[in-house]
Formats: sequence, structure tokens, C-alpha cells
Amino acid sequence: MPSVPLDFLGDLRRTHNCGELRASDAGKKAILMGWVHRRRDLGGVIFIHLRDREGVTQLVFNEGLDPAVHGKAELLAAEYVIAAEGTVTLRTAENINPAIATGEVEVVVEKLWILNESRTPPFPMEENVDVKEDARLKYRYVDLRRPRMQRNIILRSKIAFAVRQVLSGMGFLEIETPFMTRSTPEGARDYLVPARVSPGNFYALPQSPQIFKQLLMVAGFDKYFQIVRCFRDEDLRADRQPEFTQIDLEMSFPQQETIYEVIEPLLQTVAKEAGFEVELPLPRLTYEQAMRSYGSDKPDLRLPAFHCVEDLFKGEGLTPEGLPLVAIRIPKTGPVSRKERDELKAFGQERGLRVFDDAKRLERDFPVAMAEVRQRTGATEEDLLILCGWSGEAKGQRPENTVLLAAGQLRTHAGQKYNDRHQLLDPKVFRFLWVVDFPMFEWDEEENRWNAAHHPFTSVHDEDLPKLTTDPGHCRAKSYDVVLNGTELGSGSIRIHQRHIQAQVFSALGLSDEEARHKFGFLLDALEFGAPPHGGIALGLDRLVMILAGETSIRDVIPFPKTAKGTDLMCEAPSDVPERALRELGISIRKK
Ligand code: AMO
Repeated sequence: MPSVPLDFLGDLRRTHNCGELRASDAGKKAILMGWVHRRRDLGGVIFIHLRDREGVTQLVFNEGLDPAVHGKAELLAAEYVIAAEGTVTLRTAENINPAIATGEVEVVVEKLWILNESRTPPFPMEENVDVKEDARLKYRYVDLRRPRMQRNIILRSKIAFAVRQVLSGMGFLEIETPFMTRSTPEGARDYLVPARVSPGNFYALPQSPQIFKQLLMVAGFDKYFQIVRCFRDEDLRADRQPEFTQIDLEMSFPQQETIYEVIEPLLQTVAKEAGFEVELPLPRLTYEQAMRSYGSDKPDLRLPAFHCVEDLFKGEGLTPEGLPLVAIRIPKTGPVSRKERDELKAFGQERGLRVFDDAKRLERDFPVAMAEVRQRTGATEEDLLILCGWSGEAKGQRPENTVLLAAGQLRTHAGQKYNDRHQLLDPKVFRFLWVVDFPMFEWDEEENRWNAAHHPFTSVHDEDLPKLTTDPGHCRAKSYDVVLNGTELGSGSIRIHQRHIQAQVFSALGLSDEEARHKFGFLLDALEFGAPPHGGIALGLDRLVMILAGETSIRDVIPFPKTAKGTDLMCEAPSDVPERALRELGISIRKK
């Protein structure tokens, strides 16, 4: 039973929301509904901050005006749901609250309905209270009421709407593709759904709609898009979820440029929804340039590029012959203590780098070369300048990349470490870029074979086609990533539309005809029925909203996310199922 008498909503209707009333409404009657955000009891007067999605309005319950209504207000506690009818009244100058949009007025309440009570909330609703994530996820419906989460989810909705408007305006059709399907080619593990009518067989949830969107091009739809859920069973990180949402699109007869011409204005419009301007065109780097300037295929352009300077130290033994020597500049660090330098050095050494952290000493030993290093990097006395080479034998098909990647990690690590001094990693600065011309294949050390760097349906550069069989490691793909502040936001490519080239790529990947048929037979068939040249891209909606909302975890822009362990603490999923359900599916569980 409720602990206070509850009222019915009856035919009562709201006249205003809680963020709406202004000084110009003074004198009007208003009926508001929402949650009790905060309550101050001054004896004869009770003030309630009433909250809904749109904001907060102050309600006043005056004992002198109506003791019964005041008495009822005494029963209210945090998160009770109420309706209040009263008169909009100007606040006196000293009582104006500039922190809320309705702060010039309050509603002097004449009638109060208590529509529902609430248990004491598991954590406060206030903006800046730190709450453990487990509690937030268990009581997500309460967490989502908090202003930050309301803002994030509302921004997400606005962005999705803007995407639909922009793409529909460009002639794209929104077309759905199946969730219960066969394995898709994105390289993670599949989530499987057992098929009751076909025991022992499984559907796979799509890792992306990749094959279906290609089939839609074969089907003649020309321009497709979808805001679509994808499922990947992979290790989770702050920017990964097992189910996430892509803004997925595909076009027929495109150049790479055509794709950029769609995505750039799309990103510009979306950023505007979040209140930010993006200048177009976005800068472009080839994969090679990104590696040689940032040691990353998703560089954060807010920090300065590094420089390869091995040409200045030939024969000095700072790095093995043929491998890069990288000069990293971190701006405005000021003096850096021995202890801090040791920490950076250890970070680099753990990754195989040979770190020269003492620029003064290098300047003594190599004055001419170091003058040139300062020239190239633009490093001043205020900046931290680190050189790093390789400590041992560099392995892999492209050993220089092993060094560059490690140096890139050191650059990011040091950049973050001194952000309080240079403040370059400002979350309100958005540095988008395209990284293009990725290698077609990556060498898989464990499996001892080539893997598709993007996916196996990606086209090779026309002039690299002859290398498919002779030198796969140097084939460049017609692929492109859009990167924002060090995060891969989206990825796409021009696809293979001719059956015989697809066969060559499968063969370079070590996939026999039989295996290829088993995995992707229906796509291979479709390529034989007049497939047009086509290409596309998918952007991670969650990542996009995360960065535009200034968040660092995608969980904070997903209404009901999974924990880092892939569980849903609220519904307690995954869960066991009744023995009967397993029997029907022909499944028995092997005890560990
Ligand atoms: P890709 O696998 O690169 O490409 O995915 C595209 C974008 O989706 C987002 N993303 C994720 N977001 C959250 N959690 C995850 N686990 C996750 N995995 C990927 C990223 C990524 O850039 N079919 C191709 C696209 C194409 O070629 O058109 C594809 O899925 O932002």
C-alpha cells in the first residue's frame, strides 16, 4: 500500500512544461506535472523544484493561502510524481534564480495532486554528484532522469533525426536489413541465435549490414541508408559495446570523392546540432602519412605531429639501420622532473622503444642534427622533446610500422599526461580528418596468413591490382576512415563489383573457392547478375554522440548499455533459460 494517499490523474492536462514559464507569463494560470527534484521547507512556506524533461520550475506552497494544500505538500519527498495548479508569479529581484531558465518566476500552488510516491532514490539527481557506474546501470531508469543523461539522449535523438533529414534530402532511401541472418564479414565473433525449427543450426546476428547493403545496390536502389543496430562479440572498451548503432550507407557508381561529399556535410550538420562548427573540406592523410606523422591510423590532430629524423643520425646507432627514429614534441610542458621522465621512458621501453629523454645531452652530443630536429619539430625550450628509436629486432611484415605505432602511443600518452599544462586536448575542439588508402591486407602472425585490413569486399587500387598475387603487402585499398580526435568514427570503401576480382582477393586471403562459396555464396552469385560499381561507409553513431556530448564512455550516450563485462545489470542478462527451452532447441549445456 502507498505510504501517502494518492490521487488519480483523471482528465487533468498539463498547460506548460517545467522549462517553459517566463516573466511574460506572470498572472497566468498553469498546470505543471513532473518529479519532485528538491524540497525546501521553511515552516509556513514549502518550495518545491518540479522537474521534467524540459527543465525545472519552482512551486510555492503557502500555509497562509491554503493550509490543506500546504499540509499535502508536507508529505512530498524526492522523486514523487505530482501535478500542481497555480498562478505564475514574478519573483522579487533578490529571489531570481539565474541558474534555471524559469528562474524569474514561480508558481504559487492552489491545487496539488500526488500521482505517485517513490522509494528513496539510490543516488541523488544532482548534476555533479559522482555515482558508481554499477548503481547507475542497475537503476538505469533513475540514472536516465539525471540532467546529463537527459541531455545526452536528447542530443542522440536530434542527431539521428538530422541524419535522416540530410540523407533523405540527398536522395538516400532508408531500407531495413535482417537481424537474423548468416555470419557477416567484420572479423569479430558472432552472436548466435539457435533455430528451433532446424535443431543444431543457428542464425548469426549481423556484425554490420555489409552484404545486404551491397545486395541492395545490385537490386538497383542506388542510394541506401540505415541507422542500424550491429552486434559483435568482442572484448569491450570505453568506445565499444556488444550491440551498437551504425549510420550505414551505400551508393552505386560512386567515386571515393562522392562518399566524402555525402559525409562531410552530414558531419557538419550533426555537429551543428551539438552547437559546434566544422570547417570543410576535412583534411586528408594517406595511411602512410598518418603513420609517419602520428604513429596511428586514427591520429588526434589536437596534438602536434611527430617527425621521423633517422636521416639526421645516420650511422650513430640510435635506432637499427632502416628503422625510424622519431622526434616527439609535447608543447608547453615546462621543466619535467627526473621522475616524470623515467615514467615516460618506462612507458616507451615497455613497448620496445629506445627512449632518449634527455634533449640537453643529445644537443651536446649531436649539436648540428639536434638543431635540425628543433627546426623540424618547432620545439622551444618550454616544450618536451623526446627521441625514440627501436630497442631490438623489429618483427613483422612492416617493421617500421611497429616502431611508429609504439612512438604514436608514447606521443598520445605524454600528450595526455601534460594536458593540464598545454590544454590542447580540449573536448570542445573537434579535429575531423580522413585517413585514406589503407593497405589492403594485414599480416596475421598467429595464423601465418594475410587478413583483409577492412573487409574482403574492398577494392584494390586499380594500379595495384597486378600485385594481388605477387606482393599483397603493398596493395593499397580504396578504403577510407573518418577520424575524430583520435577515435575511428567511421570506415568504408569502394567495393569489388566484378566476380573475378573478388575471386582473386579471396585467393590472396587463402580462402578456397569452396570456403568462399560456403561463407558468402549468395553475394558471389549476386556479383554475376549485373552488380554496379558501388561503395559506402558506416559511422558509429554512439561514438559520434559520445564525442559531441563531451563524454568519454559510449555507455553514457546509450540508454541501456552493457557493462564492460557485457552484462545488463538491470535486467540481469544474459540469464539461464528453462531446461524445456533448451530441449526444444536441441541444446545441452556442457558443465565446465
Ligand atoms: P567497421 O567495422 O569499421 O566497418 O565499423 C564502422 C564503425 O562502427 C563503429 N563500431 C563500433 N562502435 C561501438 N562498438 C563497437 N563494438 C563498434 N564496432 C564498430 C566504429 C566504426 O568506425 N561494414 C563496414 C562499413 C563499410 O565498409 O561500409 C563496417 O562495419 O565507429
